[in-house]
Amino acid sequence: MIPSFPKGPRVLDVGCGPGKQTVELLRSGAGIVVALDFLPEMIERVNAEAESEGVSDRLETVVQDMKEMTFPESSFDVIWSEGAIYNLGFEAGLRKFKELIRPGGYVVVSDAVWLKPHPPAEVVEFWREYPEIDTVAAKLETIKRNGYTVLGHFVFPASAWTDQYYDPMEERIAEKVKDWRGIPEAEAVLSEARNEISVFRHHSDYFSYAFFVMGS
Ligand SMILES: C[S@@+](CC[C@H](N)C(=O)[O-])C[C@H]1O[C@@H](n2cnc3c(N)ncnc32)[C@H](O)[C@@H]1O
Repeated sequence: MIPSFPKGPRVLDVGCGPGKQTVELLRSGAGIVVALDFLPEMIERVNAEAESEGVSDRLETVVQDMKEMTFPESSFDVIWSEGAIYNLGFEAGLRKFKELIRPGGYVVVSDAVWLKPHPPAEVVEFWREYPEIDTVAAKLETIKRNGYTVLGHFVFPASAWTDQYYDPMEERIAEKVKDWRGIPEAEAVLSEARNEISVFRHHSDYFSYAFFVMGS
């Protein structure tokens, strides 16, 4: 989707998590990746992942709240944020990234989208915490309103939620049920995770995540 990818770009991975994408970015042509997350244990995992893949010499890591990013303006050729821009808010995040991306650079994010109208009450309840979930069309408008060009977008298939996320999560829940029995806080975590999976399994036709690739 990116017509002329800059050579050896300096990439910021915002909310990098355990680092799968960070390492993929390093493997697929990034010059330097600056991986940022506010959880030190995530940054430890990114470092370990990059080390084991032999790409750590081009990785810089930052433990920082994305709401307090202090990079100079126009510091990056590419800003990548998979499943994490919601922590800033979709529009506020795009505005922040606009300051940090160089003119002519690229911003790539994924975020929650409605696939069809009139979701059932339990779906509305589940997404209450993220009021910026919206249709793909509305997200594209927000992107354009913030001075980006849309280079491409696609909606994740249901398998993107299940194969590497909810299926393994269900296995982990089954393992933890016995260990955590009688610990109210832990049981509440399991129950919340089960509810999330159930909402998805019953209603995944109403919502998903979409990937948006844009030029700045
Ligand atoms: C859903 S995970 C996505 C991780 C990774 N991008 C991926 O796709 O696998 C969201 C990440 O954002 C991080 N995060 C959440 N709020 C943050 C904040 N305010 N500042 C920095 N990182 C944050 C979390 O620690 C977590 O690693």
